Amino acid sequence: MRLSKASLVKILCFLFVISSTKAGSIDIINRCPFVVWAAAYPGGGMRLSPGESWPLRVDGDKPGRIWARTNCVFNESGHGKCETGDCGGVLHCQNGGKSPATLAEYRLGEANKSGPAFYDISLVDGFNVPMEFSPTSPQCTRSLTCAANINDDCPTEWKVPGGCINPCVQGGCGRPANYTRFFKDRCPDAYSFGLDDRSSTFTCPGGTDYKVVFCPNDILQARIHIHNNCSYTVWAAANPEGGRQLNQGDTWTLNVISQKKGRIWGRTDCKFDGNGQNGTCESGDCDGLLQCQADGRAPYTFAEYTFRRNSTDSYSIWLVNGFNIPMEFRPTSDGCRSIQCTADINGPCPMELRDPGGCNSPCTVFRNDQFCCKQEICEPTSYSKFFKDLCPDAYSYQYDDSTSLFSCPNGNDYDITFCP
Ligand SMILES: *[C@@H]1O[C@H](CO)[C@@H](O)[C@H](O)[C@H]1NC(C)=O
Ligand SMILES: *[C@@H]1O[C@H](CO)[C@@H](O)[C@H](O)[C@H]1NC(C)=O
Ligand SMILES: *[C@@H]1O[C@H](CO)[C@@H](O)[C@H](O)[C@H]1NC(C)=O
Ligand SMILES: *[C@@H]1O[C@H](CO)[C@@H](O)[C@H](O)[C@H]1NC(C)=O
Ligand SMILES: *[C@@H]1O[C@H](CO)[C@@H](O)[C@H](O)[C@H]1NC(C)=O
Ligand SMILES: *[C@@H]1O[C@H](CO)[C@@H](O)[C@H](O)[C@H]1NC(C)=O
Repeated sequence: MRLSKASLVKILCFLFVISSTKAGSIDIINRCPFVVWAAAYPGGGMRLSPGESWPLRVDGDKPGRIWARTNCVFNESGHGKCETGDCGGVLHCQNGGKSPATLAEYRLGEANKSGPAFYDISLVDGFNVPMEFSPTSPQCTRSLTCAANINDDCPTEWKVPGGCINPCVQGGCGRPANYTRFFKDRCPDAYSFGLDDRSSTFTCPGGTDYKVVFCPNDILQARIHIHNNCSYTVWAAANPEGGRQLNQGDTWTLNVISQKKGRIWGRTDCKFDGNGQNGTCESGDCDGLLQCQADGRAPYTFAEYTFRRNSTDSYSIWLVNGFNIPMEFRPTSDGCRSIQCTADINGPCPMELRDPGGCNSPCTVFRNDQFCCKQEICEPTSYSKFFKDLCPDAYSYQYDDSTSLFSCPNGNDYDITFCP
């Protein structure tokens, strides 16, 4: 049978109407200052950087659960493992996750239909990441939160890497026990044992939409857009936050959440395996990882920021680890100064500081206290003056604050450009 375009459109619209009456939506938002691998059963899974979200369509009829997985490594085909919440070693979950994991549980129901609809947060499987589970439609307003610092308070015998076990998983979770108080005191909105219904199950009319927020109390401080305007590929690096390959013209946006201080730089001539590991870079390398977990290896130009909520941000460019790539650091607010280091430093670089990756720092090359500012009072040197003359906005030695530290009211976004 051949279908005309018009009848195809009609059929598709009809199918859409059917499916839209049966589905609700849950926006899954990561506000943690670290990456989480969101999981939904049914639904699958998704890696969420800080500030990212995953709009999940769910079938109103079926019960489901959502949780966060932490410290995961997956290969290109989505196989790997997670420290908490792992679901059989796959990115796209086909069943529930491993304890401990904070769970959002639901059955959303359908608009104008009776039948059990509910939503709750459960700690019956323990706790890994703080969570909020809230309706977003106006007809329902009861927001559930479990944001206490349960991992830090967790008694040693229940502590595991990344989470806190609920001991009921060993002895049956049907009844309250002395240990359920530990969870209930900290998260009164959440289930602490299996029959904890009265205080922990909530209902909204069918057809209500929801959001699940991981780390609801963490706050977005600013966005930093990192652009590569160089004619070559740069592997951007950020500690904390990780790293990303940026081809010419690419941009990587960092959502800086709660954490206040960080460093950003560019790496050149990198090679990594398919997992972003076992690599090397000619400059700026961070232990051979695409996703940096520490600062880089000199030489590299770097930017540093400190964001202070309701106060001032400070930002700077540094040459104390040498120079590899020209850089600009620009607040988006008109009143704040844009700073840069764009001079050709590699060309006139003193012979003894020359390095395949750029112009190295005298501290890295000579390892003496004066160049490394290990003395109490550290003065400019002929080397620091060489860097300062070419890039007056940048730190040329540790205590170069008066000409190199800039500030701007908090609440701005920032652009960092390689080869501005
Ligand atoms: C990913 O890992 C799984 C399980 O170890 C393996 O079967 C698969 O071949 C791997 N895929 C890739 C692309 O490396
Ligand atoms: C639900 O009922 C209300 C009023 O009874 C009506 O306005 C609305 O269109 C109905 N919604 C659906 C999806 O049937
Ligand atoms: C709970 O009770 C068990 C056995 O009665 C006891 O060993 C344990 O210390 C108690 N835990 C708490 C947190 O009170
Ligand atoms: C890195 O390479 C070594 C040797 O080739 C290998 O044994 C190791 O498993 C690799 N590590 C990762 C994380 O792929
Ligand atoms: C910042 O200001 C907001 C609104 O003006 C206020 O709600 C918040 O408590 C303040 N935060 C701090 C850390 O002072
Ligand atoms: C990128 O570089 C070109 C010159 O190569 C320059 O004209 C342009 O302004 C730069 N763009 C940014 C965003 O700095």
